[in-house]
Amino acid sequence: MLSLTSVLIAVVCVLIVWIFKNEDRSVERRKGEARAGSQARPWVDEDLKDSTDLQQVEEDADEWQESEESVEHILFSHTRYPEEEMVTRSQEFYELLNKRRSVRFISNEQVPMEVIENVVKTAGTAPSGAHTEPWTFVVVKDPDMKHKIREIIEEEERINYLKRMGQRWVTDLKKIRTNWIKEYLDTAPVLILIFKQVHGFTANGKRKVHYYNEISVSIACGILLAALQNAGLVTVTTTPLNCGPRLRVLLSRPTNEKLLLLLPVGYPSKEATVPDFRRKPLDQVMVTV
Ligand SMILES: Cc1cc2nc3c(=O)[nH]c(=O)nc-3n(C[C@H](O)[C@H](O)[C@H](O)COP(=O)(O)O)c2cc1C
Repeated sequence: MLSLTSVLIAVVCVLIVWIFKNEDRSVERRKGEARAGSQARPWVDEDLKDSTDLQQVEEDADEWQESEESVEHILFSHTRYPEEEMVTRSQEFYELLNKRRSVRFISNEQVPMEVIENVVKTAGTAPSGAHTEPWTFVVVKDPDMKHKIREIIEEEERINYLKRMGQRWVTDLKKIRTNWIKEYLDTAPVLILIFKQVHGFTANGKRKVHYYNEISVSIACGILLAALQNAGLVTVTTTPLNCGPRLRVLLSRPTNEKLLLLLPVGYPSKEATVPDFRRKPLDQVMVTV
């Protein structure tokens, strides 16, 4: 009789615990749904969020505006080349770009600003999601500003190398002989910092969706690299890790802009070296179906 009572008490206790646990879970679920609801936006690429987005998203949940612009359509103008010329042009373009290398030793010789303006204009010919052109190219020439940029990057990169990133990352980078010292940030006559605009603004100040902004800006950066190569300048593609927010504030860029790449631009220094990398042959990168 005694043991039957204790079994009954145990069963009742288990039931009470189960009921309370379930109640907790459904409260958490309701909270999660409410959070998701308040952050709902017409379109968002989850990969593009960073901590500086979150507060703004909550503040401006109702501020989005659908595009109502209408645009006239015009006849497309096209230049067609004879096949032989197509082959020559494509071969020559390949040979030009195959000479592009990431150069980390850049001389302090000045470059013509007209060339910089032309390469940025060329980058701006890139396609972009719904023609939103979600890019800002910040061209830094001022030596003091370049030095401030260097200080921020070296401070963060030192932590990246020594603490944030694992041994594998440090080992993988050994072959390109980089570390947190970035002398080219002072010596290169021009730094181009490319920001992606995670959203834009309409004429009436409402937020405008920038579809696939990171892909669009990355394509623009590829075209910029090709344009620099074509102009006879060198650069190294850099992604200063954990520096974006500080550099954005330093350069007085608005919160809808996030740093994507930093390109130091100039002529190679006389003693510049590069790792002796080989590129994959066509049969390893192209599949024809
Ligand atoms: C997305 C991306 C990020 C990169 N980040 C850095 C970087 O932070 N620092 C650096 O020295 N090189 C960086 N590089 C350059 C690569 O190391 C370089 O492209 C690669 O070693 C191949 O060499 P190549 O550019 O001379 O062909 C980056 C390249 C890419 C595409």
